[in-house]
Amino acid sequence: MDHFLYRDGILHAEDVALPRIAEAVGTPFYVYSTATLTRHYQLFKDALDGVDNLVCYAMKANSNQAVLKVLADLGAGMDVVSGGEYVRARAAGVPGERIVFSGVGKTREEMRDALAGGIRQFNIESEPEMLVLSEVAQSLGMKAPVTIRVNPDVDARTHEKIATGKSENKFGIPIARAHEVYALAGSLPGLDVVGIDVHIGSQLTELEPFEQAYLKVADLTRSLRAEGHNIRRLDLGGGLGIPYERSNEAPPLPTEYGALIKKCVGDLGVEVEIEPGRLIAGNAGILVSSVIYVKEGEGRDFLILDAAMNDLVRPSMYSAYHDIIPVVEPAPGLEKQPYDIVGPVCESGDTFAKQREMVPLKANELVAFRSAGAYGAVMASEYNTRPLIPEVLVQDDQFAVIRARPTFDEMINRDIVPEWL
Ligand code: LLP
Repeated sequence: MDHFLYRDGILHAEDVALPRIAEAVGTPFYVYSTATLTRHYQLFKDALDGVDNLVCYAMKANSNQAVLKVLADLGAGMDVVSGGEYVRARAAGVPGERIVFSGVGKTREEMRDALAGGIRQFNIESEPEMLVLSEVAQSLGMKAPVTIRVNPDVDARTHEKIATGKSENKFGIPIARAHEVYALAGSLPGLDVVGIDVHIGSQLTELEPFEQAYLKVADLTRSLRAEGHNIRRLDLGGGLGIPYERSNEAPPLPTEYGALIKKCVGDLGVEVEIEPGRLIAGNAGILVSSVIYVKEGEGRDFLILDAAMNDLVRPSMYSAYHDIIPVVEPAPGLEKQPYDIVGPVCESGDTFAKQREMVPLKANELVAFRSAGAYGAVMASEYNTRPLIPEVLVQDDQFAVIRARPTFDEMINRDIVPEWL
């Protein structure tokens, strides 16, 4: 359940009618629900009840300061993948001891800044990275807490661009080489090996791939301990999927996921970390857009919206499905018709949906893209010199702009024309 429901025939975000926000900020815009963010975070906390745990929100999904603050105030940790995300997490009030640093290409500078500022752990992805971190930590006279990300060679059965746990992917070290790599880590100065990390992909709609990966990690924990490594923390990654197509998708629930974690690693006496992004933010946000034109094409009608691929790239990039619903609730029994739903950007790839059954719509009517809170605003660009669209946060009956739409001047003035021109 989320908090975007029709009330008296109008789609609301919590207690705020969407046309009210549209009037105040103009379309298109993203809007997030505080209650949904809170609920989703709490679902994971409840699912892991009884296990020593830290839920580290994967802030790549949505890193607006206000969103981070909602979660940080609840006690969430953060999974960061860049120096910029680290700074954002700290700015939102997340203490260093609740931040884990993931990613295959951490630079010396990022390592230094995180060590100096405080960090819970680095999730190391390769031997070269490990050698550099050892050097950087030594130069600061510190010991860097590390886990090593293992690649369990498990098929996550998700979109190829977001699967990470197969041997052909760039992530982690092959699990078969783990003993060798842990021996190296244990011998290096400046490192404190605290655990194991795994993340096999995103938008997983079955538990089985998680189970395969987690059982391999549990075995590895036992054998590494037998070799003298003090494995006391397991970072089990993120990846639990959400229902994008509500009519026919029912991915596993956080409770089922939590039960699986307990079954696989519950007897190891470890601290468990998870890194969910999409499940926390995805259905906590929608994108609201206005119809500019309804165009009759050859054998098909186009709904031309004021949102485009630069605002929400997932349909063009991953052929992702998003429910698109009218903001004014259609009368029951109103017949639907197929539309190609597109944006104004000058390429055919700027298509949100083909032949989507919708009730008839007219110019200036509002539609909402569901499940747009994760990997929406954060992946937006200014392609076609279209301003990044505003983000709005709702709590009960109040709403606030949490990122304003830039003016054209602000956008253009970021360019610098050399004086010789
Ligand atoms: N941890 C690590 C190391 C990750 O790489 C990711 C996502 C997560 C956690 C969070 O996964 P989640 O719980 O959100 O599934 N832009 C794509 C998704 C890319 C995911 C990348 N890594 C999309 O729009 O579908």
